[in-house]
Amino acid sequence: MKNKVFLTRTLHDFALKELKKRYQVEIHSGKIPIPKTKLRSKIKEIDGLVCFPYDKIDKEVINCAENLKVISTYSVGFDHIDTEHAKKKKIRVGYTPEVLTDATADLAFSLLLDISRRVSEGDRIIRNGKWKEIYGAYDYVGVDLQGKTLGILGLGRIGSTLAKRAKAFDMKITYHNRKHVSKSKEKSLNAKYVSFEKLITESDFISIHVPHTKETDKLFDMKILKKMKKTAFLINTSRGKVINEKDLVVALKKRVISGAGLDVFETEPISGKHPFVKLSNIVLAPHIGSSSKETRAKMAQITVKNLDLGMKGKKPIYSVGY
Ligand code: DGY
Repeated sequence: MKNKVFLTRTLHDFALKELKKRYQVEIHSGKIPIPKTKLRSKIKEIDGLVCFPYDKIDKEVINCAENLKVISTYSVGFDHIDTEHAKKKKIRVGYTPEVLTDATADLAFSLLLDISRRVSEGDRIIRNGKWKEIYGAYDYVGVDLQGKTLGILGLGRIGSTLAKRAKAFDMKITYHNRKHVSKSKEKSLNAKYVSFEKLITESDFISIHVPHTKETDKLFDMKILKKMKKTAFLINTSRGKVINEKDLVVALKKRVISGAGLDVFETEPISGKHPFVKLSNIVLAPHIGSSSKETRAKMAQITVKNLDLGMKGKKPIYSVGY
């Protein structure tokens, strides 16, 4: 009798083929994300779970599990899983960092380029038939990146990769972390450590690369936004809850800061009626940080490997907690 594996959404064909060789596989169909009641009843009977960022695997869900050995999430973020509780229950948790580093850094940099040169805004102007002025001195001007300071909050994998992109565009790079990175890393990235206060007050662009935790919850509120330069831009590809969205809407409307580029939101998906949608000085992406064909396939491979290891009672390649 094969062990049972449940997927809250489908994965690439090659990944499903692999899983089906070894396990009895069931894929949730219907409402996405999977309703909690269904997840709670499914988790009772399975040995392995493949989940996605919108599936809340909290204490209550984990407590329903009877034989669960491993939770393998198709994401680098694991804030949707109560990893502490999984650890207590000796359930392995696997996730997919590294393979999505480049794709997410690329997306952060594309938001930065887009908002600084008003590309999406221009696209909307044309699509709405509003392109009337041609090549005037003040028409649709953006700002240069060369010589501007990019403040990276969280110089981990993705933050460091973003720094490489920024270096190639001749930007000055500063960062703030709980700890300094090594001198050699600072040197190779041309990145200078600054206090949080300095990063906020002196950057022309701030890119957020910290996880959502109690400490970072709504960190970017009006108090912080007001400390930023009026000409500054805020980029977020980490987690939406790190920003107080209500405050950001006001800050963008009143031009407390110049603009923002967001791939993540407090509650996703956002609707076409969200206050951000009415603002011209913001670029919005539908949480596509890791969304390239190549990266998503690599994530599927790791998700399967993590699951396989956990099913054997071993530590996943990328493992949180236990
Ligand atoms: C993740 O994997 O957690 C990312 O947010 C996806 O872009």
